Formats: sequence, C-alpha cells, structure tokens
Amino acid sequence: MPPHILDGKKIALQKQATMATIIQNYNLQALPPHLAIIQVGDDTASHIYIKNKTKACKKIGIKTTEIYHTHISENKLYKIINELNEDPTIHGIIVQLPLPKNINPENILHKIHPAKDVDGFHFKNYGRLSFKLPTHVPATPLGILEMIHIHKIETKGKHCVIIGNSKIVGAPLGILMQHLQATVTICHIHTNDLTHFTKQADILISAVGKPGLITQKMVKKGVVIFDVGTTFVTDNHTISKYTLKGDVIFEEVSPICSAITPVPGGVGPMTVTALMHNTLRAAQGQVYTLQKNQTKIFKGY
Ligand code: GUN
Repeated sequence: MPPHILDGKKIALQKQATMATIIQNYNLQALPPHLAIIQVGDDTASHIYIKNKTKACKKIGIKTTEIYHTHISENKLYKIINELNEDPTIHGIIVQLPLPKNINPENILHKIHPAKDVDGFHFKNYGRLSFKLPTHVPATPLGILEMIHIHKIETKGKHCVIIGNSKIVGAPLGILMQHLQATVTICHIHTNDLTHFTKQADILISAVGKPGLITQKMVKKGVVIFDVGTTFVTDNHTISKYTLKGDVIFEEVSPICSAITPVPGGVGPMTVTALMHNTLRAAQGQVYTLQKNQTKIFKGY
C-alpha cells in the first residue's frame, strides 16, 4: 500500500479559512488580533519564516508588526518587549530564534508576558503545558498534534521516537505525546546508536535540520513519520535559488511508511497556522482571562 501523505498545507488552509471567518464574525476588526514579531540579527532562514508568518496572518485578518534590529543589547530588547507587553493593541509577541550570541534567549523569552507569549516558550506556559492546563502550546508541536488528531493516528501505547530535544519542538512534543499515552524516547546529539531507537519507532518525529539523516534502513515498515527538518539548500534551478529539504530521504523512506509528511507542505504550514491560532486565542482572551480598561490587560500574572 502506498504511504498516506500527510498534507499539512491542505489542513492549514482549511484552518486558516475557519479563523478568517471567526475574525470577521467575532467583530474583532475594531481591535484586530495583532502579532508583534521581533527579529534580531541576519539569519536567512528567519527572514523567510517571518515573511511566511506575516503573509499568512495578513491573509486572514491578523495584523502584524515587525521589529527588526541587526544589533541590539539585551537591555534594549527587554525594553522593546516591555513596551509591547504594556500595549493593549498587541495580543501576541514572538522573538524569532535563533538570536545572536550576545543575547541569551533564556533572559529574553521569559520577559514576554505569558498571556502574549504565543510561542509558548515562557516557563509559566511551559509549566502549564506539563500540567495539561490551558496554555499557548508551541506552534510546531501543536501543528503536529492537530495532524495526529485529524488523521486519527493511534498514539496510545505506541512508541514515539523524537529526534531533537530543543525547547521549540522536541522537549514540549515529548510531554504532549506522553499526554496522548505514547511511550516516548527523545534522542539528541549525544545519543549513541540512533538507529537502535529509530528502528523501534511506531511514530518517528525528526527535528534536527540535517537533510539525509533518516534513511530507509533506520526505520521499520509501517512507521508514521513527521519530518520537521527545514533546511534551505542552495538550488540555482529555482527562482528563489533555494530548495527546502527535510531530514528524511523521502524517496527511499516513504514507500515503507504507513504515513509521512512531505517537505515542503507538511509540518511547516501547520506551524505557521498554529501560531496564528495562538494569536487569535490570545486576542480573544481564551487562555488567560481578558480584563478591560487596564494598562496590564490580563489578570493573574
Ligand atoms: N525559530 C524556529 N522556529 C521558531 C518558532 O517556532 N518560534 C520562534 N520564535 N523562533 C523559531
């Protein structure tokens, strides 16, 4: 049987259409959902990600403000975040990662007000996620969870092997997959004999950013694969001069999978859509109770 191609782009477009209708119907236009995106430095991939995020937001009525600095001190960045925290017209704030070496992301990400932390990286939101409390779930894990849900992929008692223990993807996804009653193994850069683990996976999630990492002999027949890898590889045959590559060698691995996400068109569009979902929820005060007529507009923190 050919593998089921998990079409993230199709689901993403459906979700975006639903959100566009909600934004119109809830009469949020008076104060449209508004996402502030901060970028520091000159990471090429970040430029592309931010362009995709702003384009998708605009399409459904989410306003975006981009704040860009090539160089900035931690203190100045903290001041910008504070102003955005205090601004009642801003509902979501993200600081695009990676940050330049002079800035410690741990110092910065936790300065974003938890109610506006639509990336879900603040330790309060991370803690709430661990306890299954309402929170902003990080976008990539949320996008993958939605695909699992929509495609009715069995997780209970299944062995989910995640490659990559980043705070953006691997670590929160590990918690979420345990919530779905999967047995979870998280592999990372220091894991010895990666194949020993990947071969056991009923569900394999690769979030490394190393094209060609996952070959056919590393997986078992019938595995479900989510390829989170997004590496921009130079390609002079395309207009943009780059091609997006996942971690999995799709041509050789997909024939033995029961289901697999393509790159592009798999996890990527779901990640962008999950961020938009979090921003809309923040604007509606769905995670933290909205309190009117206050400079600090959310109660509890
Ligand atoms: N860099 C790569 N993925 C992400 C993400 O989901 N959020 C932020 N802020 N930066 C990223």
